[in-house]
Amino acid sequence: MTFKNVTLVDHPVVARDLTVLRNCETPPPVFRSALSRIAIILAYNSLKGLPLKKVEVETPIQKTDGYEIDTDVVVVSILRAGLGLVDAVMQFIPEAKIGHLGMYRDEITHQPVDYYSKIPENIKQAQVLLVDPMLATGGSATDSITFLKRKGAKNIRFMCLISAPEGIKRVQDEHPDISIITAAIDERLNDDAFIVPGLGDAGDRIFGTI
Ligand code: PRP
Repeated sequence: MTFKNVTLVDHPVVARDLTVLRNCETPPPVFRSALSRIAIILAYNSLKGLPLKKVEVETPIQKTDGYEIDTDVVVVSILRAGLGLVDAVMQFIPEAKIGHLGMYRDEITHQPVDYYSKIPENIKQAQVLLVDPMLATGGSATDSITFLKRKGAKNIRFMCLISAPEGIKRVQDEHPDISIITAAIDERLNDDAFIVPGLGDAGDRIFGTI
């Protein structure tokens, strides 16, 4: 199956670490380090193509051309599990501002329920990177994108670890302008709307609340 606007990150370290993350025996400390490594590779790919501004730099030898990133960057984490991806982006763009959207998926209805939001002022002119490890039904991602657009965000990319085809389709149907950067596209959702094979509940596995 091919999807428009989806970057599937392909790297041996991603393949190795995804296996660690999928393994139900992996304890939270090992889960967190594997996630951090994949997050770096995802962030690197998610930040491709940012606009640059030419500047002059003086080396110890002579002046030459250099570059600065010519846009604000805002990372927005969908709580809780999105927190596991924020640091990776901040390593590349330390001056980025960080927004939070509190959202959990109701276990019965599978619908996202929002409980908190704090979004930086410069969201309107920034390149926004929305992060959440899991794209399952797509409800949390599409609601978050709708919320950010209402706040004035114009350039949003969605970075996630594992996505289901159903979630990708939903995001693309409702927000065709959004590009998705993901480390895996899994088979499907099961009757409980969990990604198959997936890795279970990312938030629980990051924070040890299983
Ligand atoms: C998970 C995950 C996404 C959402 C994906 O969060 O981190 O936010 O579900 O599902 P969807 O695509 O069907 O909306 P969860 O509700 O488990 O909350 P948590 O991050 O607090 O664990």
